[in-house]
Amino acid sequence: MSAADNCAIVEQRTKLRPKLALVLGSGLGDFTGQVADPVTIPYGDLAGFPPTGVSGHAGTLVIGLISGVPVAVLSGRAHYYEHGNAAAMRPALETLAAFGIEDLILTNSAGGLNPDNAPGSVMLISDHINFSGTNPLIGEPSDARFVGLTEAYDRAICGRLKSAAARLEIELPAGVYMWFSGPSFETPAEIRAARVLGADAVGMSTVPEVILCRFLGLRVAALSIITNLAAGMTGAELSHEETKHVAPQGGAKLAKIIAAYLEEAS
Ligand code: HPA
Repeated sequence: MSAADNCAIVEQRTKLRPKLALVLGSGLGDFTGQVADPVTIPYGDLAGFPPTGVSGHAGTLVIGLISGVPVAVLSGRAHYYEHGNAAAMRPALETLAAFGIEDLILTNSAGGLNPDNAPGSVMLISDHINFSGTNPLIGEPSDARFVGLTEAYDRAICGRLKSAAARLEIELPAGVYMWFSGPSFETPAEIRAARVLGADAVGMSTVPEVILCRFLGLRVAALSIITNLAAGMTGAELSHEETKHVAPQGGAKLAKIIAAYLEEAS
């Protein structure tokens, strides 16, 4: 089974041919409720799509309309911490590329390093730091593996997301996302180091997908929902329960920004 076979399955189930896909992070599954006339395809029907093991992740590809624009929504992603495979999302992203997707907006939940960005706020990722020591293109034999990431996050998509947020009067600060493997949260010392390195938020996803998107020629942007201040910034211990509880608050803002973004695009 290949991306082309997956594509044939998707094409049998819907006439829509979206150019934009969204990947939903932890606790953002409610967003699929925004999709009109949805066609829902379980990941299990599509070869290589991740069996989703994280609570808060559904594992479905939903194709339908938002603001009248065809979109593909991936509800559920594979994380490196589930199996140690940074390329786990490659078959899904290859399928999207083969299906004609050109633009991808990734979403995630993240810990914030800037006390001004309160839990429930949304951040536009302007750049990332990958000091994890791994990369989803390790083992890729072709020279295409040497992907330039000087402008990994697409300027035009980011600009349109910013203007959508501004029209809605929703704050959308831009910042640098630093990828940590997880699944344990960071230590306060790691967060102090991340701050020195220039991070504004930390999280356990997205970076491998951005690298794969650029490898596949997909334009990409990413939004973080800040679900908590990072380790050591408050007295509180961090938990996945908190992530799942707070993410929908930011998710409501994120849904509005995406709808406004698509209205502009339509
Ligand atoms: N660290 C890493 N990932 C996260 C966090 C965090 O503080 N919050 C939500 N996802």
